[in-house]
Amino acid sequence: MKNILFVASESTPFIKTGGLADVVGSLPKCFDKEKYDCRVILPKYMCMSEEWKSKMNYVTHFYMDLGWRSQYVGVLEMQYDGVQFYFIDNEYYFSGSKPYGNIYQDIEKFAFFSKAALSALPSIGFRPDIVHCHDWQTGLIPVMLKDKFPENEFYRGIKSVITIHNLKFQGVWDVKTVRDLTGLPSYYFTPDKLEAYGDANYLKGGIVYADAVTTVSDTYAEEIKTPFYGERLDGLMRARSNSLRGIVNGIDYDVWNPDTDPLIDHHYNAKNFRKEKIKNKRALQRELGLEQNDSRFMVGIVSRLTDQKGFDLIAHMMDEMCQNDIQIVVLGTGDEKYENMFRHFAWKYQGKVSANIFYSEALSHKVYAACDAFLMPSLFEPCGLSQIISLRYGTVPIVRETGGLKDTVQPYNQYESTGTGFSFANYNAHEMYYTIQHAMEVYHSKKREWNKLIDRGMAMDYSWNSSARKYEEMYDWLAGC
Ligand code: ADP
Ligand code: GLC
Repeated sequence: MKNILFVASESTPFIKTGGLADVVGSLPKCFDKEKYDCRVILPKYMCMSEEWKSKMNYVTHFYMDLGWRSQYVGVLEMQYDGVQFYFIDNEYYFSGSKPYGNIYQDIEKFAFFSKAALSALPSIGFRPDIVHCHDWQTGLIPVMLKDKFPENEFYRGIKSVITIHNLKFQGVWDVKTVRDLTGLPSYYFTPDKLEAYGDANYLKGGIVYADAVTTVSDTYAEEIKTPFYGERLDGLMRARSNSLRGIVNGIDYDVWNPDTDPLIDHHYNAKNFRKEKIKNKRALQRELGLEQNDSRFMVGIVSRLTDQKGFDLIAHMMDEMCQNDIQIVVLGTGDEKYENMFRHFAWKYQGKVSANIFYSEALSHKVYAACDAFLMPSLFEPCGLSQIISLRYGTVPIVRETGGLKDTVQPYNQYESTGTGFSFANYNAHEMYYTIQHAMEVYHSKKREWNKLIDRGMAMDYSWNSSARKYEEMYDWLAGC
């Protein structure tokens, strides 16, 4: 039996801001339970819903040094869906209205969380063979596991993995503050270790010190070795390329299943979607005040509204797009400029554009179920889950060929009748627009072809089945070396 510990800043169903939460909340239960005991440590944020907080059980508490500070560490636990979760409690750090706030606060918050997660292990009575870290928030863990922790016999020989879900966010702050916070000696703050371009960089520390590095698709694993996608760490990614691999994300097939999904109005599956899926479209048109018309080409967007997702291309083409027989449904929050852009177009094209500028798990399921197509023209995309969810819901993805979008959506080929979606290569607004028009044309005038695209998309397997096996292989290899 191998013990694996996930340490992460978010996980479904407790707290979610993006795809990281979906991955951490769904992957651990997919490992072979006979061979792997995989547990998860998260912060206990005050903004988690009462429903979850009231179910957590107190385990222990202690005080921990953080630089010159001494901080309270509470440990709570809860079993969920067959997985053991632990929560680190500290009201000073985790009391915000959202998991993340100002970067200078987050820098201290996640130094605390990383050290607390490791420090709590002996009192929990769980010694991992491998600590699996996720993103910059846990980047200090591989460093700490090589620094002071091994002075204690308990930690000696523990291996670490870091998964990069998004290279853009690195946890960068000045060296002096980070030294002060972590108590790490100046030895670590050189350009071959934690320092990058004069500052301390948590993610870089994680990448340098982890025993293995993964990211969430093959294409992104290649892209980040280049300056365009490398976010100024491409040199490091090239240097670590022997320890870097891409493992594509899966989704939770129990949660994302149009045949049983309790959050959608009308269930359907790969056999009956031709008749049943449209009922969800009608229901959503009614709910959102869109024109009640079966034949409008309904395009969905469920996303963080940031530059990463290609919204400047969409902003550029919104007027043109709205001249067509189209409906656009947006669900998202993020940069104010994009929130206001969609509000503006919803006002300008009433009945055609619906802007839902908030976070709603329930509405997201309805959008995936109701729409004909899903638009995701990302500038970069480590993996992307929305297009995978769309495939599962028979909603045809329209994507830019980058990162995980390229790996999970096969472009439609009308001559060979292959493919599961529509895609374009260059980050160019007109290329995106022509691709949407092409999709619209197939939808309106070649319905049989369109339905075959859906058939092929719904037949794809993006459950965790094969990717969980790849993580297991990596754990075995790490534990053996
Ligand atoms: P990222 O992690 O970069 O945000 P992903 O495609 O990997 O992108 O994952 C996004 C996840 O967050 C999906 O599960 C998507 O449905 C969900 N999501 C994004 N915005 C919202 C929102 N406003 N309401 C509900 N779910 C959302
Ligand atoms: C990040 C990426 C996204 C990926 C998710 C889960 O938020 O932006 O592409 O799917 O992490 O790995």
